[in-house]
Amino acid sequence: MNPENAKRRIEELSDKVNYYNEQYYIYDKSEISDYEFDQLLKELNNLEKEFPQYKLPHSPSSRVGGDITKKFPVVKHEYPMLSLANTYTFEELEEFDKRVKKDLGLEQVDYFCELKFDGVAISVIYENGILTSAVTRGDGVQGDEITANVKTIKSLPLKIQNADYPKKFEVRGEVFFTKSEFEKLNKSREDQGEDLYANPRNTASGTLKMQDSSIVASRNLQCYLYYLLGEDLNIEKHEEGIKKLEKWGFNVSDSYRLCNGIEAIRNYINEWEHKRFELPVETDGIVIKVNSIKLQNKLGTTAKSPRWAIAYKYKAESALTELLKVTYQVGRTGAITPVANLNPVLLAGTTVKRASLHNANEIERLDLHEGDFVHVEKGGEIIPKITGVDKSKRSKTAKKINYISKCPECGTGLIRNEGEAQHYCPNDIYCPPQKRGRIEHFVSKNAMDIDSLGSETITGLIDKELINDIADLYYLKYEDLENLEFEAYSEKKGEVIKRRLLAKSARNLINGIEASKKQPFERVLFGLGIRFVGQTVAENLSNHFQNIERLSNASTEELIEVQDIGTRIAESLRAFFNDKMHLDLVERLKKAGLNFEIKEDNTGSNALNGAKIVVSGVFENFSRDGIKKSVKVNGGKLVSSISSQTDFVLAGENMGPAKLKKAEDLGIKIINEEEYLKMIEEK
Ligand code: IVH
Repeated sequence: MNPENAKRRIEELSDKVNYYNEQYYIYDKSEISDYEFDQLLKELNNLEKEFPQYKLPHSPSSRVGGDITKKFPVVKHEYPMLSLANTYTFEELEEFDKRVKKDLGLEQVDYFCELKFDGVAISVIYENGILTSAVTRGDGVQGDEITANVKTIKSLPLKIQNADYPKKFEVRGEVFFTKSEFEKLNKSREDQGEDLYANPRNTASGTLKMQDSSIVASRNLQCYLYYLLGEDLNIEKHEEGIKKLEKWGFNVSDSYRLCNGIEAIRNYINEWEHKRFELPVETDGIVIKVNSIKLQNKLGTTAKSPRWAIAYKYKAESALTELLKVTYQVGRTGAITPVANLNPVLLAGTTVKRASLHNANEIERLDLHEGDFVHVEKGGEIIPKITGVDKSKRSKTAKKINYISKCPECGTGLIRNEGEAQHYCPNDIYCPPQKRGRIEHFVSKNAMDIDSLGSETITGLIDKELINDIADLYYLKYEDLENLEFEAYSEKKGEVIKRRLLAKSARNLINGIEASKKQPFERVLFGLGIRFVGQTVAENLSNHFQNIERLSNASTEELIEVQDIGTRIAESLRAFFNDKMHLDLVERLKKAGLNFEIKEDNTGSNALNGAKIVVSGVFENFSRDGIKKSVKVNGGKLVSSISSQTDFVLAGENMGPAKLKKAEDLGIKIINEEEYLKMIEEK
């Protein structure tokens, strides 16, 4: 395709895909099939790859992320992002209404009421209908610019389809996890043996600040918009602003209502007190705003909050119930979590049977005794917490809860590292849940991705003593598996069921295991399940050390030199590789044919002709790993530190001053991203 046509087609496809996205995510309508949609997106992706110069700022491909932001730039808000004064009783609200009426000299004021969503506030700027910047609240005056991450929120338009918008405007809203999406995220963390997130709001906040926008994209954040700002808006009422947002395709919660005075507000509050639990998002109150913008301006703001709006917070739901017993869970990495098993009680719309006790300190803090009556509360947390004990209900003979000293699964003595709250079972190879958990983690999607091997089958294979660790998988034979009968706990049925591996499943399993041998080193490394070594760390380690020999021989100091790796991870790696059992395991995996070194990619040019290159800083057109891959694919050799042997330094934004000085001292050529692009394009 010639460049001109490509440009036009990219524009057309971007608009189309944005349009169908909006229909789907805002209006719940599918006007075309998934297949047709994927075809459009694929065509767009291919064209953007071929003609990157024509990729639009509102390209729907930014929905999938991929940009890495090392450090979020700090940006000043055009209009300060104030917070709201809180009230907790209806009387306080009456006072607010009285004050507003008095200040305005009016008998009655119209209010716009809406639920208060428990998420993270953002401000998003649109220029010429295109999303150009998104910023966190920060301190209200300035916040972090997190545009790449916010663009992954599918219900937020990248380009306004409807034409009657002002040249520039700002929308404010709340980014959040829906309850079900949050549960899904935690479920997948549980499957991978990772710690669970305690509450959706903090997780949303953490997610928005992640460096890798493709992880943000995978988490399916949502947002509701509730405030339109700007010049030339042509509106007299807050409600008109909301109607405009709706018309422009923004996600506005339909829970809002116009209330013509304090009694109408009271009804609204009462109506939503319990109904709010049925909403897909956590809410913690309602927001009451003066509807007329002229009156808003008349009332003005204090240093902290507007005088024309206020929040009413519902009391966190709480209940008193009996502690039946404390049990202890052992995670994949051996971390012990104490759990309070409770007499079931209804709370915030769900029946609560269990509450997490986090760690030994928490039990100590609550001074928990057997048979205690405890207050459980459900605020923003999905998992309820115990906020206190009703000591008047405690019997004199009740015994204090003593933390266990031995692993409930394998009897090994527990350990607790200095400075850590959690106890651990150190028997990582033979402790049953750890053994099972390690194998589940190893075969999981982001590691070896052996989807023909589910957790029931893993349990069955362990019970039948066919496998004891991950390396054993590669020594399984078809004959071992065909018609294998085993018992497994079915989560669906909630009971133990009998299963038999038929020929087809056995064959799939063998094939899946065989195919996994092709997975790259970084995935194998992640799959080993070394404490604190997540996907990104595994990727950094594999890029830096290139093979397992160099990695396993690296000292703590050498490990800390790698991007994103601190003492905690370095020490965990050292502990792993100091253990002979782990070295034997790696040896057996190696013999089985898994990748323990980076394989070179020969698909690119040889433009760099073997030059030894140090990459540093942040790049506009490449992610962190993208730039490294590009160097390798184009025939360059990556080196991690600058020496007289280095041919040149490829410097992005924010390159460290120490590196810069070293390069200058040694007289090594420094090239920027633009020069680099030319180098690889010319050949
Ligand atoms: S309006 C000046 N409406 O609550 C008025 N805020 O505690 C701007 N919030 O900063 C805010 N739901 O982050 C408004 N329906 C809603 C809201 C809402 C949640 C958040 C927002 C605000 C904070 C104040």
